[in-house]
Amino acid sequence: MTRRCLAILLQCLHVIALTSAASDGSKWSYTGLEGKYDWPKKHPYCGGVSQSPIDIRNELLQYDPTLRPVEVRGYSNCTEPLTLINNGHSVKMSLPSTMYISSLPHRYSAAQLHLHWGSTDHLGGSEHTINGKQYPAEMHVVHFNSDKYSNLSTAVDKADGLAVLGVFIDVGAFNPVFDHILSHLGSVRYRDQVVQIPAFNIFNLLPERLDEFYRYDGSLTTPPCYPSVLWTVFRNPVRISQEQLLSLQTVLYSTYVNEPISLKMNQNYRHPQEINERHVVVSFRDGVILAITLAAVLGAVLIVALIVFMLIKKRSKKNNQENNKGVIYKPAASKEEDASKV
Ligand SMILES: *[C@@H]1O[C@H](CO)[C@@H](O)[C@H](O)[C@H]1NC(C)=O
Ligand SMILES: *[C@@H]1O[C@H](CO)[C@@H](O)[C@H](O)[C@H]1NC(C)=O
Repeated sequence: MTRRCLAILLQCLHVIALTSAASDGSKWSYTGLEGKYDWPKKHPYCGGVSQSPIDIRNELLQYDPTLRPVEVRGYSNCTEPLTLINNGHSVKMSLPSTMYISSLPHRYSAAQLHLHWGSTDHLGGSEHTINGKQYPAEMHVVHFNSDKYSNLSTAVDKADGLAVLGVFIDVGAFNPVFDHILSHLGSVRYRDQVVQIPAFNIFNLLPERLDEFYRYDGSLTTPPCYPSVLWTVFRNPVRISQEQLLSLQTVLYSTYVNEPISLKMNQNYRHPQEINERHVVVSFRDGVILAITLAAVLGAVLIVALIVFMLIKKRSKKNNQENNKGVIYKPAASKEEDASKV
């Protein structure tokens, strides 16, 4: 009897231990009790400044003619197998540090890339938005400042630690390059599952026109939300087919293979954050300048119209007052006239 009690007690302790392990600071999700609006409780940086993503609005943009086009090295001749992992929040592919960005003041070496997406019953899925427009998905290629730091873990919380390339993913024709990743999703359906995939030309995952991008100072878009990221978000999206998007939205689970309840991995994006004092510099002029000019012209027209309107109103008020004077006296005058007629 006593032995049985002891067994039950041990089992209880085991459950308690498991529960507390599950609720440690590292656990987070997009919805539910540890959902994105509650991240700041355990991850104070998530409630802090310079957070990402942001809604990239025309009025934030500053054209900077000195911005160099994005240049990368080692993206096209990566020969070692790549590791694909379901980390419970996204599907992540390891990248060798022989790949790097060469157009920034420091060398930023690649560490991993991962995706954010929506679900079949909701529009949207990208983290960054353009004037409120959300794309179906977004890819982040994460690099760390390898001039100053030896690896991603040491760089991740440093102000000049990371540089991330953001690529919008839209729906279009079948994309054979993205299929090098997407065709393997079935091998990493559950959390912590890993698969080795053959090397491919990673450069081809990037959009056309690496000279057209938005750049700003921001953060990791997941806990612990360190404000350590120099963001480069390309203007032009890449395209994958509806079927490819569907596989991203439906194949993966955020739960472990043996959990009693499986949770689909989708809607794994954070909402746009406060911009505060920040600006977004842009490398391209057309569209932006047009929009700004158009806004300025419209603004000027509106101000002129307002002034004209106020002047007219003032004048008509004055006229009315004069007329009113007439109106007051006229009936009297006409009465007098009438009286004189009688
Ligand atoms: C890719 O090519 C560059 C330049 O030719 C070379 O320096 C680099 O070592 C190559 N990388 C790999 C992984 O072979
Ligand atoms: C990263 O670099 C630091 C300092 O050089 C080292 O202590 C740490 O073990 C490295 N971490 C990884 C994951 O390689």
